[in-house]
Amino acid sequence: MKFVTIEQWPASDRVDYRHELEAGNVLFFPVTPFVLPQEAQDFLRSLSFSGGAVHKNIAYRPASDRVTGIEADSAASERLVSVMRDYSRSLIRFTSELLPEYARAWKLDYASFRPLEEQGRDLPLNKRNDLIHTDAFPSRPTNGDLILRVFTNIHPSKTRNWVTTDPFPVIAEKYARAAGLEQIASGGKFLNQSARILKSFGLPVVPRSPYDRFMLRFHEYLKRNGDFQANCTKYHFDFPPGSTWLTFTDVLPHSVHSGQHALEQTFIIGRGSMADPGNAPVAVLERLCGRKLLEGGDLASQVA
Ligand code: SIN
Ligand code: FE
Repeated sequence: MKFVTIEQWPASDRVDYRHELEAGNVLFFPVTPFVLPQEAQDFLRSLSFSGGAVHKNIAYRPASDRVTGIEADSAASERLVSVMRDYSRSLIRFTSELLPEYARAWKLDYASFRPLEEQGRDLPLNKRNDLIHTDAFPSRPTNGDLILRVFTNIHPSKTRNWVTTDPFPVIAEKYARAAGLEQIASGGKFLNQSARILKSFGLPVVPRSPYDRFMLRFHEYLKRNGDFQANCTKYHFDFPPGSTWLTFTDVLPHSVHSGQHALEQTFIIGRGSMADPGNAPVAVLERLCGRKLLEGGDLASQVA
């Protein structure tokens, strides 16, 4: 994989960067390519996370213009909504200029502010981001679409340090079978039935395709595989303060080892707007197992 540096933005010539992203590369902007006022950054860094009104992670939902992770009536909450709204809008405008073909059909997902030092966080294995993984959202299945994330390091002096490995086609070829691809592709009846039972009791159930079930499984499989974690090919990149980078986090297995104060916005990119839909993880998996992984939109027993 490659870290592709874009020194100048706006660029003088239009480049279709979809090919780089779909190959599992990272686009890296040494200088933040959108408007992000200094006072907004100062405000975010000044929030206190030692309990109380502000929680450990702040999410902004563009569709409903709401922030979670802070008590609604706390002194900072109104300002926080407006700072996250301005960040999200400015970032979306930039990304739609960079990737207009994606912008035509994307779904806006959440934006987040990541306030905590990543090094030494005490988290359960499945939530650890210092272990290399592909992303999958338990509550928001993509049904074969892709997860694009744009990050900005707003720490005044510290780099944000990532380690990645080879992209999805390489890793899936090595590990998808061991992670249970065949079983998920061919079965699922038991899961469907248990989901229906949960539903009949009025419990919330997320409709989830075999593809989404596999991606959730793969996320955890990679994190639990000590041999993969220790011995896979590794690419290190330290993102400097004031830089921005983006990648498909379900195509590129990644991890973060240290760094504090990052902003991030997620987009769900429709497979139909890819330069080559044959590179989508779902297409890679379908070739590997010789079965369709999206038909049916089966019900999985995951509570929303
Ligand atoms: C992740 O998506 O695993 C975390 C990346 C980061 O926060 O830098
Ligand atoms: Fe991740």
